Amino acid sequence: MYFLGIETSCDETAAAVFTDEPRVLSNVVASQTELHSRFSGVVPEIAARAHLRQILPVIDEALNRAGIAIHQVGCIAVHNTPGLVGALLVGVSTAKMLALALDVPLIAVNHVHAHIYACRLAAGRDIFPCVGLVVSGGHTALFDCKDALNYDLLGTTRDDAAGEALDKVASILGLGFPGGPAIDRESAAGNAKAFRFPRSLLEDGTLDFSFSGLKTAVLYTVQGQDRSQPTGSPTGKHRADLAASFQQAVVDVLVLRCQQALEKTGYRRLAVGGGVSANRKLRADLATMCERERVELFIPPLELCTDNAAMAAMAVEKFHRGEFAPPDLDAEPNL
Ligand code: KG4
Ligand code: ZN
Repeated sequence: MYFLGIETSCDETAAAVFTDEPRVLSNVVASQTELHSRFSGVVPEIAARAHLRQILPVIDEALNRAGIAIHQVGCIAVHNTPGLVGALLVGVSTAKMLALALDVPLIAVNHVHAHIYACRLAAGRDIFPCVGLVVSGGHTALFDCKDALNYDLLGTTRDDAAGEALDKVASILGLGFPGGPAIDRESAAGNAKAFRFPRSLLEDGTLDFSFSGLKTAVLYTVQGQDRSQPTGSPTGKHRADLAASFQQAVVDVLVLRCQQALEKTGYRRLAVGGGVSANRKLRADLATMCERERVELFIPPLELCTDNAAMAAMAVEKFHRGEFAPPDLDAEPNL
């Protein structure tokens, strides 16, 4: 049986074809990075309009690459929450239209949960129960993943998401948009111990995160407490050291919180997803911690870390349990 997955929650228009195993047959992503880069961030209205232009060609391409025709699709899966409402609406409306026209079931998938399910998809075997960490541009959240469909929130960010902090600090350092990959690259040449930035761990007992203080600490280091330093971005070794020291502070907090969540749940498996899990230092430090703690680590390959529609294969689990969406399914911007 063939499923068609659709993703339009932020600035990637994506469609994928997968089977009920689940096995991915095609995974097409049309990025809008170029449209948003001159604004140093995603502009919701531009994103929604670009999704409208791209969604049908992207679906066609996904069907072509999978080698199937539209009438062979037996179920439509769509990420309907969370995200930019105008962007989500394009995917949700397209999915509802296709389900109606093809007379096949419609399944709604939570985009953040799907980032964890990407680990199950890449592993090709059961990974539950596990601790799940989602680190993306919009979310930083830890889950107690009891099985393939039941994820209880253990902790979340009280202010900026990790990806958001990376993007904003990249902008402070004059590294462009999107900032995550730029910080990753710039840090490779820097000394992570050059600056001692704060690791915000809030009060004891919570698994929540906070990254806005760290972002402000970088801003003050670059521009001075009273912003009196000469304007203009840092350069050379100085900039690489700032990037590496900041990146290490983000990574240290994420790794420690994962370790605490593993201790709290007693699970021996950790699944990590979302765009920031593409970060090389985060991947390396998580691997070291998991080896030390004898925990099995699941991080998907890069194309399944960043936004995609293949991870909507979480719908296969819902299909087996008969969890279908109503024909009046709505886009829900908040988690
Ligand atoms: O999951 P995602 O593609 O979209 C959202 O759902 O938000 O995550 C995007 C985030 C952005 O903040 C981007 O800067 C970050 O992932 N990112 C990275 C890397 N690649 C993407 N952050 C750190 N290192 C990377 N290599
Ligand atoms: Zn995402």
